[in-house]
Amino acid sequence: MAEIVIVPDAEAAGDLAARAIVALIERRGDAVLGLATGSTPLPVYRALAERAAGLDLARVRGFALDEYVGLDPAHPESYRSVIRREVIEPLGLTPELVRTPPADDPDLQTAGERYDAEIRAAGGVDVQLLGIGTDGHIGFNEPGSSFASRTRVKTLTRQTRADNARFFDDPEEVPRHCLTQGLGTILEARHLVLLAFGEGKAEAVRGAVEGPVTAMLPASAIQLHPHVTVLVDEAAASRLELAEYYRDTYAGKPAWQGI
Ligand code: GLP
Repeated sequence: MAEIVIVPDAEAAGDLAARAIVALIERRGDAVLGLATGSTPLPVYRALAERAAGLDLARVRGFALDEYVGLDPAHPESYRSVIRREVIEPLGLTPELVRTPPADDPDLQTAGERYDAEIRAAGGVDVQLLGIGTDGHIGFNEPGSSFASRTRVKTLTRQTRADNARFFDDPEEVPRHCLTQGLGTILEARHLVLLAFGEGKAEAVRGAVEGPVTAMLPASAIQLHPHVTVLVDEAAASRLELAEYYRDTYAGKPAWQGI
């Protein structure tokens, strides 16, 4: 079972995740981070910038989960731009070592395969950060995505486009397609850290953690992974049936163990 940690707020979750990432980088200076976009992982990146202040991050590598298709990579809301602004610059990572899926590649049919090959060549992802969509997507794996899927082009649901419209001036500007790591790709990372905050995520979190494993809720794929940490605030945890058990378990955990 995944480890579920219910924290007071997003800052506390960010700090827990950042501590685990710092410990990883202290062990291995060329660690491979799986980077997520959206608002959810931002507290992790902020905490990481503080905690990693004395650490050399120049050899750290990174792979983003997904990218919009049909959006100029230079657009401020392309995930390439977001990762540069929120991760590479504040942390002082080496830009060439941090990749986003090449959604502007003229050969989109094979671009995903090549991205997966790059991840493999880097030795695989050590820690994969994940947010969750209100429809239960991770990366941009919308409901119905195969658990064996690899990085490929997907069509965004109307709900996801509406959710992401806040990042664009005009809702029509939200791209209709994306290039996203597949669920099979994501499940190959050695440690998954899924974060969710707020009431709006409560139902998706319940399904991901306690619901049946089903392609209708792609995040439920995390139940198939041997090392998963789910960091949620009280609101996102509000529909969890076993909340009390998760609290007892975490309260009884030795501090040295980390997540
Ligand atoms: C976006 C991203 C996901 C992200 C999710 C939630 O569409 N592709 O990787 O987890 O939606 O976004 P937010 O964290 O802003 O709620």
